[in-house]
Amino acid sequence: MKCLKINGGKKLSGSISVHGAKNSVLPILSACVLINGASVIHNCPKLSDVDVTVDILRYLGAKVERNNDTLTVDTSDINRFDILECQMKELRSSIIFLGALASRSDRACLYLPGGCEIGLRPIDLHLKGLKALGYDVYTDGHNVCAAKDKVKGTEIVLPFPSVGATENIILASVLAPGRTTIVNAAREPEVADLVNFLNKAGARISGTSAPTIVIDGVKSLHGVEHTVIPDRILVATLMSACAITGGEIEVKNLFPEHIMPTLPVFEEMGCNIDISNNSLYIKSPKRLNRVKKIETMAYPGFPTDCQAPVMAALSVANGTSIIKETIFENRFKHIEQLNLFGTDISINERIAVVNGVKNIHPADVKCTDLRGGAAVVIAALKANGISTVSDIYHIDRGYECIENQFALLGADIKRINDEKKQ
Ligand code: EPZ
Repeated sequence: MKCLKINGGKKLSGSISVHGAKNSVLPILSACVLINGASVIHNCPKLSDVDVTVDILRYLGAKVERNNDTLTVDTSDINRFDILECQMKELRSSIIFLGALASRSDRACLYLPGGCEIGLRPIDLHLKGLKALGYDVYTDGHNVCAAKDKVKGTEIVLPFPSVGATENIILASVLAPGRTTIVNAAREPEVADLVNFLNKAGARISGTSAPTIVIDGVKSLHGVEHTVIPDRILVATLMSACAITGGEIEVKNLFPEHIMPTLPVFEEMGCNIDISNNSLYIKSPKRLNRVKKIETMAYPGFPTDCQAPVMAALSVANGTSIIKETIFENRFKHIEQLNLFGTDISINERIAVVNGVKNIHPADVKCTDLRGGAAVVIAALKANGISTVSDIYHIDRGYECIENQFALLGADIKRINDEKKQ
């Protein structure tokens, strides 16, 4: 088993470029199913979630070539409209293929995705949306299927601005006759990036900054060239690592407007932040201040995906910080691992109380999930001495070669084979 060996206690410094956003690449690759032709997608990071999605596209009959961070996806010969249990278990967010496959093929069946480490991850809003559009949605308890019946545009009101449900409904309606209006749609930048990709391909979608998205169905879509937006969650992860180590770094090739929801938190921590063009410069204080209260919200609120990395930074702040997780019901699993470093974090239902400690010590910990894994790496970068982080396959889902990224900023971090675990 691979693990990370981190010799912490060094201030991060230097400059780093941000790779493309995982949560933008995945829906855009699903959207390629709607296109009868080839698309070229730049800034696709080398992540295991992207690899699984590429494997699914190839299983469906698409041709996919990678050249560095560019993927060429030719979906002219797609001839399957199902996704296997093993594939869905590897990447439950592949439910996003349902709308696109049913739209292209008249009928699609995907293995019912279960929950994951951070919650039950229901798909009721996805299915309600497809039913409202006229798809015949049914499950045999093993698979969930959608068959194109009398599909036409309609108004869909989401009780919660679900990112996945918004994206699935967009993909299911972009070739449907008539107008579809999604009220209370998700406004995450990754949804806007998907819409930009689709509009370049000939779709007619508007409204991604308002909570209402309007899709006017078109007959067909053509191949496009597109560059994926930078990963705003990676930016916050790098900032959290800089903050906890008292460092100063430059983060390049980001979109400032996408990270605005997190900046007040880093400023309250005592970090000095300058933004010019598409770069951010952050200088951290010797010791961070506590942040009175953080509440995760749908965009443009504080992102739930930044909760764990920021919590790691606050674990050594001066004072007590309160973090409320309102999006996922089980997204505090990293706290037990953080406390192995000597942090003092307790949980009361959806609220984490982070009593900042002056110092933390090295520990042998494991990743509980993708962002929880980033959190324990951030803590290990602070702890003076050697820590090991195992189950790093979680991290590889969403961060490209995280050890190289932090090593570029001066960290002493290596990926090793953990004999003990073999
Ligand atoms: C996307 O997940 C992201 N994943 C998540 O990133 C991110 O945390 C989340 O949006 C919120 O921003 C991808 O884009 C691949 P939701 P998604 O639908 O679409 C409930 C990461 O770390 N809900 O907005 O699954 C759900 O249970 C990952 O990169 C329903 O009840 O998020 C949750 O409580 C983690 N019914 C809330 O909505 C539904 O049908 C948010 O879910 C759908 C969702």
